[in-house]
Amino acid sequence: MIDPMTVLGIETSCDETAVAIVDNNRRVLAHSLLSQLDEHRMYGGVVPEIAARAHLDAIDALTQKTIRDSGIKLQDLNGIAATCGPGLIGGVMVGTMMGKALSLSTGKPFLAVNHLEAHALTARLTDDVQFPYLLLLISGGHCQLLAVESVGKYKLYGSTIDDAVGEAFDKVAKLLGLGFPGGPAVEQAAKHGDANKYELPCPMLGKPNCDFSFSGLKTAVRSLSERVGALDEQKRSDIAACFQRVVADCLADRVKHAIEKIVIDYPACKTLVVAGGVAANQTLRASLQYISGKHGFKLVTPPPALCTDNGVMVAWAGLEKLRLGMTDGLDFAPRPRWPLYETV
Ligand code: KG4
Ligand code: ZN
Repeated sequence: MIDPMTVLGIETSCDETAVAIVDNNRRVLAHSLLSQLDEHRMYGGVVPEIAARAHLDAIDALTQKTIRDSGIKLQDLNGIAATCGPGLIGGVMVGTMMGKALSLSTGKPFLAVNHLEAHALTARLTDDVQFPYLLLLISGGHCQLLAVESVGKYKLYGSTIDDAVGEAFDKVAKLLGLGFPGGPAVEQAAKHGDANKYELPCPMLGKPNCDFSFSGLKTAVRSLSERVGALDEQKRSDIAACFQRVVADCLADRVKHAIEKIVIDYPACKTLVVAGGVAANQTLRASLQYISGKHGFKLVTPPPALCTDNGVMVAWAGLEKLRLGMTDGLDFAPRPRWPLYETV
């Protein structure tokens, strides 16, 4: 066991207020999360203004509780991390200011964390994955394939040319009337459906690059759901299952192309990490397991609670930065847009 170094991390970039404390022995010392799902449900999506206010209401008490739960004194922390982008800027500002205030009052270094990097590095906490690895980042706002060379060093292989995959799940859920949040609702409905009942186009299948596209598939789901007549529970389930199968096929095809690229760039690479909220989906995991196994790659996916937004991943990314001396000034400005491959 190495000398413990502890970092507190704050996540407020979307609709989860989350705070956690981790150490460099890969232990989670405390972890709190408050979801705002109920505040946003009636709007069928996250309302930025409501999200920012809810973060502001929750952040003080949640931070105090997390510090109490950890049994660590605020003064004994080694660093304070906060998601500083990308995300809904009102929420990002709340977390950033809380992190800066704690850093200022304790004199501990501030670590500005890129939310995508936090997703990307989680597998190093959960599974001790070594660099380099192939990363499939699939969330509500992002859909990318990258080579992860080290903290702050990423090479982009492909990204979506229109919707992110999580966004496609959310939109399909909405048009099938499955509720919010869409991803888990589609997965649940698909369990009772026939995944081969209807034909849907598999986007980008066979294209030589590693890019994604989901808007055509979403349109195809819309016209299919209009064509089949009044939607009952069985039809909803069948369409959800077909949509999910096509997404699984598409992701597997894109990953196959990225594996072909990464074995040239980094011959030692033998790991595929899947991160982001959509990685919680069991059907997609199974498909990615199959394709990675076929190419001699090991698939690593963090447990579902660490795939969706959480504070642990922010604290861990902060810790990774801290031990490399990559601290940030209190003048760091929150960034609504912050591509991962521009992290340094
Ligand atoms: O990473 P995340 O928590 O937030 C960001 O977008 O950064 O990802 C949220 C996205 C949403 O689009 C949600 O519908 C999707 O992840 N998601 C899922 C599942 N759980 C969450 N998509 C498919 N299947 C799931 N089980
Ligand atoms: Zn996220």
